[in-house]
Amino acid sequence: QTTLDIAVIPGDGIGPEVITEARRVLEAVLDSAGVGLRCTEYPLGAAHWLETGETLEDDTLEKLRGHDAILFGAVGADPQDDRVPSGLIERELLLKLRFSLDHAINLRPSRSYPGVTSPLRGVGEESGPQIDFVVVREGTEGPYVGNGGTIRRGTAQEIATEVSLNTAHGVRRVVADAFARAASRRRKLTLVHKHNVLTRAGDLWRRAVEEAAVEHPDVSWEYMHVDAATIHMVQDPARFDVIVTDNLFGDILTDLAGAISGGIGLAASGSINAEGTAPSMFEPVHGSAPDIAGEQIADPTATVLSAALMLQHLGHAGPAARIQAAVDAQIADWARDPQASAALSTAARGEALLRRVLAG
Ligand code: NAD
Ligand code: IPM
Ligand code: MN
Repeated sequence: QTTLDIAVIPGDGIGPEVITEARRVLEAVLDSAGVGLRCTEYPLGAAHWLETGETLEDDTLEKLRGHDAILFGAVGADPQDDRVPSGLIERELLLKLRFSLDHAINLRPSRSYPGVTSPLRGVGEESGPQIDFVVVREGTEGPYVGNGGTIRRGTAQEIATEVSLNTAHGVRRVVADAFARAASRRRKLTLVHKHNVLTRAGDLWRRAVEEAAVEHPDVSWEYMHVDAATIHMVQDPARFDVIVTDNLFGDILTDLAGAISGGIGLAASGSINAEGTAPSMFEPVHGSAPDIAGEQIADPTATVLSAALMLQHLGHAGPAARIQAAVDAQIADWARDPQASAALSTAARGEALLRRVLAG
């Protein structure tokens, strides 16, 4: 019997709440497929740092490398909590994982669900526009690398820099991945950047796309500045199939994508190691949501769908499809009585998804 060996990092805030539900669904779907599951929990995050002073130790990182994949909730302190320096957990834990495990491809699919309330839905309209696109966000470079610095801090002459790092290797591999995905979807690729201002990085990205396009004559591509992309994403999201973009633009666009497709609580992601040299990591797009943490009102669907992306990645397409089908059916059910479903707890949502998976 195959057994999947998964590292689980619940994290902070709503992270543990949504991970609990995703684990239940994962266990159920694998059990009925006759696939074993071994989960090892790693208590990392802001709360762990406050207790121990540890963000991510080298030996913990080595242990994480040994698993088939990582299921990640969310980390980060309440921005009001001044005991935790801003960016410490994000940089020293989350980004350290993405960088060390070479998560070059940050995959963030978005779909609309019939009947689900979207801010794009007109008054009296049954459903909003058809959304079905995937943002292929570069995951290891851009302004996220942390090159930069501050000098003369606190003086009138203070200088703060953040450098955006773009390598030909990093850009080419994410572009190649995006073209391959487009080729197996609706064969349309949009490069989102801002080459009218970020001329050097923009030029590298544009050439990478032009070169890859030669290998994929079946895929049509267009270029779009990131500011305009936010207009089109709101006014005509159906025009997008695959969007390829840098780390920071991808971060911003995918919160917007989550919001228009029915809520950030539905947005799943995978941080993929394209070469298979280390485990990939699957996590909701959202954060630790300190504003609702502990209230059992977070939507666990994004984490459940991230678990489905994980199964897909690990070659278990059947169980992954079963989760997706269960989510589709359950969301359609919830949409029939939006008032009642809005009042459901995190656990009640997880329970409903679990029952759907078992029934499917
Ligand atoms: P956030 O995504 O945590 O929350 C933004 C808004 O979305 C909040 O109003 C929140 O209540 C809501 N929301 C988020 N997830 C939800 C869910 N599942 N169901 C219902 N509503 C949900 O973003 P933020 O407030 O900017 O960040 C909070 C903390 O999380 C910060 O410390 C930040 O650095 C961190 N963060 C971590 C990750 C991650 O671990 N991958 C991602 C984003 C932010
Ligand atoms: C995300 C988050 C992270 C990012 C932060 C917490 C470092 O916003 O996963 O979208 O910017 O990538
Ligand atoms: Mn983000």
